[in-house]
Amino acid sequence: MPHTIPKDTINRLPGYTSPSPPEPDGRLIAGQRRMNLNEAPVPPSPKTLAAMTAALTEVNKYPDHGCTALATLLAERLAVPEDRLFFGGGSGELLLASAMLAVDGGDEAIVPVPTFPTFGKGVHLVGGTIIGVPVDDAGVNDVRAMVAAITPRTQIVYVCTPNNPTGGMLSADDMAYLCGAVPANVLLLIDEAYHEFGAHDGGPDYLGIVAGRKGLWAVTRTFSKAYSLAGMRVGYGIASSPELAEGYWKIRGTFTVNRVALAGAVVAYEDIEYREALLAENARQRDSISRGLAAMGFKPYPSSANFVTARSPVDATALASWLAETDILVQPMSWPGSGSCLRISVGSKDDTTALLAGIAGYLKANRVK
Ligand SMILES: Cc1ncc(COP(=O)(O)O)c(C=O)c1O
Repeated sequence: MPHTIPKDTINRLPGYTSPSPPEPDGRLIAGQRRMNLNEAPVPPSPKTLAAMTAALTEVNKYPDHGCTALATLLAERLAVPEDRLFFGGGSGELLLASAMLAVDGGDEAIVPVPTFPTFGKGVHLVGGTIIGVPVDDAGVNDVRAMVAAITPRTQIVYVCTPNNPTGGMLSADDMAYLCGAVPANVLLLIDEAYHEFGAHDGGPDYLGIVAGRKGLWAVTRTFSKAYSLAGMRVGYGIASSPELAEGYWKIRGTFTVNRVALAGAVVAYEDIEYREALLAENARQRDSISRGLAAMGFKPYPSSANFVTARSPVDATALASWLAETDILVQPMSWPGSGSCLRISVGSKDDTTALLAGIAGYLKANRVK
C-alpha cells in the first residue's frame, strides 16, 4: 500500500520547497545577504528588543490569545473599533483564513497575476477556482479588468497594494472604483503587507477609502516588513464589521501569536522614529538598485515596497544561482508574458553595492553589454 496523501486537493499542490535558506546552527549564516524574502535588513529597534527580552521570562505561559494590548493600541491609532480587528501568526495566515471564510467548492476568487501566492493556495485548499487577471504594464492590479472578471460565482476579490512581486500601488481612484464596483456580498480583500512603504511614498489612505464601501471588506497588514519582526510572525486585519472579524477569530488556531511577538509588536508599532529611518533608507537603497539595474539593461518595475522586480536581459535563474554562490540571495521569477525577472529585496547600502557589483561581474563574464 503506497503512502500517498489521501486528499487529492493536497496532491495537486506544487511540491513542497522551503521558502527560506537552511540555517544549520539555528542562526543566520554570517555573510549571507538575504535579498530574496522581502525582510527588513535591520534588527528590531532597541526598545522592541528590550520588550521581547523581558517577555522571554514568561514563555512558560500561553500568550493572550485575544492580543488585547495590541488590539487596544491599534484600535486607538487606526480609529477602528476593537471588535473589527483580528490577528494571526503573520498575515499569510490571514490570507488563508480569508479564502476559508469566503470561498466554497466551485466558487470563484479574482486574483491579480502575478501576486503573493499564499492567497491562491488558500483558494485551492477550499476547492475554489482562481480567476487570474494580469496586472497592468506598471505592475499595478488592473482593477477594471478584475471587476470585469466578476461572475455570480465570485465570492472574493483579492487586491494587493503595493503588489508583491511587481511593487506597484493602486491610486485612490482605483480603490474608490473597486469599493463601488465589487458587489456588496463579495469580500473585497486588500493585502497591505507593504502598507508602511506605500504610505512613505505618499500613497493613498486605503483604509479611509474602503471605510465608505457598502459591502464586505477586510484589510490585512503585517509586522514582518517595516517593523523588522518577520521572525516573530505577527499579522493583523481590519474587517468591515464585527461579524466578519468574528469569522477570522473562529477560524484562527489557538495562540498563533506568541507572547514574545506580542510584546515586540506593541512597542515596535510605537517606535516611529526607528521605523521612519528604516523607510527612508529603504527608499534610498531601492532607488539605487533600480537605477543600477536600469544602467545594466534591466527594466525595473516602479516599486513602492521594500523590493524591486526587474525584467532581466539574461536568464534570471542562472544569474540568481551565480549570485547565490557569492552568498547574495535573490529571487528569480516569471509569470505569463513577463520574460525572465529578478525580484531583489532592499537591503543595506553595502548589500546594494555588493549586488550591483555581482550582477555587473556576471554580465561581464557572460559577455553581455
Ligand atoms: C503581499 C504579501 N502578503 C502577505 C505576506 C505575508 O507576510 P507575513 O505572513 O510575514 O505577515 C507577504 C510576505 O512576503 C506578502 O508579500
